[in-house]
Amino acid sequence: MASQLRFDGRVVLVTGAGGGLGRAYALAFAERGASVVVNDLGGDFKGVGKGSQAADRVVEEIRRRGGKAVANYDSVEEGEKLVKAALDAFGRIDVVVNNAGILRDRSFARISDEDWDIIHRVHLRGSFQVTRAAWDHMKKQRYGRIIMTSSASGIYGNFGQANYSAAKLGTLGLANTLSIEGRKSNIHCNTIAPNAGSRMTQTVMPEDLVEALKPEYVAPLVLWLCHESCEENGSLFEVGAGWIGKLRWERSLGAIVRKRNQPMTPEAVKAHWEKICDFDNASKPQSIQDSTGSILEVLSKVDSEGGVAANHTSHAASAATAGFAGAVGYKLSSFSSTYTQLETIMYALGVGASVKDPKDLKFVYEGSSDFSCLPTFGVIIAQKSMMNGGLAEIPGLSINFAKVLHGEQYLELYKPLPTSGTLRCEAVVADVLDKGSGVVILMDVYSYSGKELICYNQFSIFLVGSGGFGGKRTSDKVKEAVALPNRPPDNVLTDTTSLNQARFAKPVYPGQTLQTEMWKEGDRIHFQTKVQETGDVVISNAYVDLLPASATLAKTPSVGAELQSALVFEEIGRRLKDVGREVVKKVNAVFEWHITKGGAPAAKWTIDLKNGSGKVYQGPAKGSADTTIIISDEDFMEVVLGKLDPQKAFFSGRLKARGNIMLSQKLEMILKDYAKL
Ligand code: NAI
Repeated sequence: MASQLRFDGRVVLVTGAGGGLGRAYALAFAERGASVVVNDLGGDFKGVGKGSQAADRVVEEIRRRGGKAVANYDSVEEGEKLVKAALDAFGRIDVVVNNAGILRDRSFARISDEDWDIIHRVHLRGSFQVTRAAWDHMKKQRYGRIIMTSSASGIYGNFGQANYSAAKLGTLGLANTLSIEGRKSNIHCNTIAPNAGSRMTQTVMPEDLVEALKPEYVAPLVLWLCHESCEENGSLFEVGAGWIGKLRWERSLGAIVRKRNQPMTPEAVKAHWEKICDFDNASKPQSIQDSTGSILEVLSKVDSEGGVAANHTSHAASAATAGFAGAVGYKLSSFSSTYTQLETIMYALGVGASVKDPKDLKFVYEGSSDFSCLPTFGVIIAQKSMMNGGLAEIPGLSINFAKVLHGEQYLELYKPLPTSGTLRCEAVVADVLDKGSGVVILMDVYSYSGKELICYNQFSIFLVGSGGFGGKRTSDKVKEAVALPNRPPDNVLTDTTSLNQARFAKPVYPGQTLQTEMWKEGDRIHFQTKVQETGDVVISNAYVDLLPASATLAKTPSVGAELQSALVFEEIGRRLKDVGREVVKKVNAVFEWHITKGGAPAAKWTIDLKNGSGKVYQGPAKGSADTTIIISDEDFMEVVLGKLDPQKAFFSGRLKARGNIMLSQKLEMILKDYAKL
């Protein structure tokens, strides 16, 4: 059974806790160990009068059950006094539940100034006053949980409740910004729109419904949102009768209704009305960056249609968008890096290899018979090609290097890295993603020894603070992390870290124990590594592919001799020279081939029928592939010889395709054309 969510040591202030929902919250928090300030002004449901009885009764109830509580009778408009009551009684304030409320229902035409003002003073201004009084304490202790109480009336509107609707939706706006401002201090703020029977709702609900919709069916959501283990922040929930649902904004794709150099007219709006209001494929913007990003994109789209210069704002916006988009496909100058055995050894020592471990000798002693370079050194060499000024030369991007972070890293090795020598790196900007707060540059780097491709890296370079230019958030060029199988590990290994510390996804302190969990799925071993003492995952989504000795050989220069498909690819390449342009026109796609042998990856080839007059080369696509095809050497030959239909191979699982699968329909044409080529 899941352990009980406790609030021991936490101090909770619930406003309007003398009855209804507030009382249910106060009792539930106290039952789970919290010290509770039960605030209630004690007036009637219209906000007339005051008294101490309501709060006192709930305090007594809590104490009778062995809980800790004090009463406070001030109006929420005097927020400082409520928070002072918490500090005086319990020394701190961890949770504020803004719940106090009244009603002054009138149809809009009959709302008096007083009816308008008092509703706003209690609901909106009261929530502001109480929360502001608690805010600095929460910031100092770097912990806080805040609840705002909205209403379906505010979200959807309700006849006779214009004043109340406006104030209630105001609390949501307040919460939206608090959730952003508080985030870095671990202060979370969420909003609920409850449905419960209370003295407030008995004026509008039938009696048995008031009875059935118990406040106890709302309280558990409030407790969860206020628990230290709850990461939810800035969200809105409707809750009642034991049901809870989350709300979010949806925005239609909309329509651009103006053209550059032409006035925007109401007639154009009318003409596009259906599209503006069409929620098919609607987006779900979650932040102001999501919102303004698309506005900037519109400016750039309208501008890029040609014509006279736009105003200042649109010019700046389009320059940013065009700059990032224009960088995609940019090739950095070729970069060569020479290293000696000394660097190979220094790298191994730097990541924790040690002369004390006999297994490590081959990485740290050049005299070892099997002296080797650690595979991950391939990342270091590739990284140099970007950091030695390469990134700075990308046109249209002015990169502030103080704000550059190394994000995810992908490495593919085709041959063991030489222990010394010169590697030439060719880097290309695969894509640029707009992550709102920042920009991610996906950089593909191919490293060659002479003409031989040794390794391929994909770097995710995070530029803090440059996002929000209206670019796309994801890309099919991202090398996706592979999820772990959903079952207990097949094998677990533990290892104590040495003082020669290595690099991880989260901090690992010298002397801590690493626990590696492994799952075997065919020839792939998934693994993740945790710090045993903390449970933190420090290596995630990792895997090793096992290759039989023959397949390993196939990756060496003798590949042509091992795989029949290699001969075909080479031949296609040769013949493309004559008829390439014609085929490129027909196909217009880049295909990456993963050829397997004995069930294991054996070789990669790319047939580029998109650029120039086409090209065939060994290795993954430089730039990006439209379709990736995985097939065994034998099946590939069958397809080529016309014995196996590619469509059938696809449906029977003998041929797998990723990316634009529709393009694989053109395969038949390419491979049949092979005979003609
Ligand atoms: P309730 O009337 O039972 O409880 C509200 C409490 O707030 C009362 O005990 C009242 O004395 C206290 N209060 C009023 N003005 C105050 C002030 N200035 N300072 C301190 N305390 C004050 O009502 P209920 O239903 O429990 O409502 C709680 C909250 O939930 C309210 O904010 C209400 O607007 C909201 N709400 C309730 C719904 C429901 O279905 N019960 C529906 C939507 C929203």
